Amino acid sequence: MSNIVKIKNKINKFNKNLSIEGDKSLSIRWALLSSQSLKKSKASNLLLSEDVISTLDSLKRLGVKIKISKNSCEITGLGLNGFKYKNNLTLNAGNSGTLGRLILGLLVHSKKKVSLKGDESLSKRDFLRVIKPLEKFGAKFFSNYGKLPIKIQGTNYSKPIKFFENKGSAQCKSSVMFAALNTFGETIIKAKKSRDHSELLFKHLKLPIKVLKKEKYDIIKVIGKKNIPALNYKIPSDISSAAFFIVLTALTKNSTLKIRNVNVNPSRIGVLYILKLMGIKISKLNTRNYKGEKIADLIIKSTNKIKPINCPIKFNSSAIDEFLLIFIVAAKAKGVSYFKNLSELNQKESPRLKWGSKILNKIGIKNIVTKNSIKIFGNPKLQINKKIVIKDFLKDHRVFMTSVITALSFGGEWQIYDKKSINTSFPSFLEKIDYLGAKIE
Ligand code: S3P
Repeated sequence: MSNIVKIKNKINKFNKNLSIEGDKSLSIRWALLSSQSLKKSKASNLLLSEDVISTLDSLKRLGVKIKISKNSCEITGLGLNGFKYKNNLTLNAGNSGTLGRLILGLLVHSKKKVSLKGDESLSKRDFLRVIKPLEKFGAKFFSNYGKLPIKIQGTNYSKPIKFFENKGSAQCKSSVMFAALNTFGETIIKAKKSRDHSELLFKHLKLPIKVLKKEKYDIIKVIGKKNIPALNYKIPSDISSAAFFIVLTALTKNSTLKIRNVNVNPSRIGVLYILKLMGIKISKLNTRNYKGEKIADLIIKSTNKIKPINCPIKFNSSAIDEFLLIFIVAAKAKGVSYFKNLSELNQKESPRLKWGSKILNKIGIKNIVTKNSIKIFGNPKLQINKKIVIKDFLKDHRVFMTSVITALSFGGEWQIYDKKSINTSFPSFLEKIDYLGAKIE
């Protein structure tokens, strides 16, 4: 099967209901936390994408029992510090930064050595950000300046730590929280705001956690070595996947879309705030609480007047995975948009700030990019009439899907490589595109 998609036409107007796959952050956290319980945990609507499958495979290699059936997944964990494996085991995190960083947190107590490797993209990413705090617990690491492959050797005598997480990285925060689960005493984290799924799951499981919310930081205190109960969970739909269809609807004339059961956790919906400030019509209906997480149905309508934005930096963390899409919306705005303090965007599956600028250049949108900011000179009349090839972007799933949305919104003759990258986070992406009526080869 070809790994390239060809798009020659914009999508026609649509008026549909859509369902979206389960949230990736919650799916990975559910599996990792369930592995630490001695009970059987069950999840439905688990995202069965490559990142989550790498998580399940890694846990299996660590001795955890996992049963996957059509609609659900069951994990019978081994309890805290209960992994069973041979010395020098190798785990493969594939493309997943979340898996790679969080699982190291669970291994600080495991005396036998474990190597962690990943794909080309993950091997370029920074792991020093978790190695440094995890070393303070007493674990030993062997790596080339914090790049994969990494070897970890845990300790029998881990001590609780104080850690200042200053990047706004939920992966670093969660890695330390997971290490704290396995450590006697109180670990204290001062963390710049980032997605708080781990905190909410700990609270739901009634683990000893205290969270003090300050304006820019949270103080999180975790006391370890408490038994973890079963975690039965229905994973809500992923706002980061929904975002592709929110933007497609907004940019397609006379269209409406309803997406049900989307996770609208306040630490994830920066994209909704930003798009609303840009004039996009999104309403939230039926907002409810599910085991600490917020869920709602979203209704999106097309917009013909898009406003530029000087994007408030307070939304950076809660929209971090959606900026490529937001840049495409800014390309159609009447005026100049400005996004700043975004150096973390270059730490993702690909350097997305740098490459977001490249994609804008390809579609003829003037932009000025620096190491941590981008200015986008929007054109409300944007129509693409040329050939565009998207290739060599480190197989970044979000680059692929953003390119498809751009092609269907603005026209042109597109060849987009690395179709299989959708399997990282959103395997049914192209089926949904087809369901909305687009023609793709
Ligand atoms: C994630 C945190 C974010 C995000 C990633 C998933 C998580 O990364 O970009 O897709 O599940 O914790 P950082 O923590 O590096 O910002």
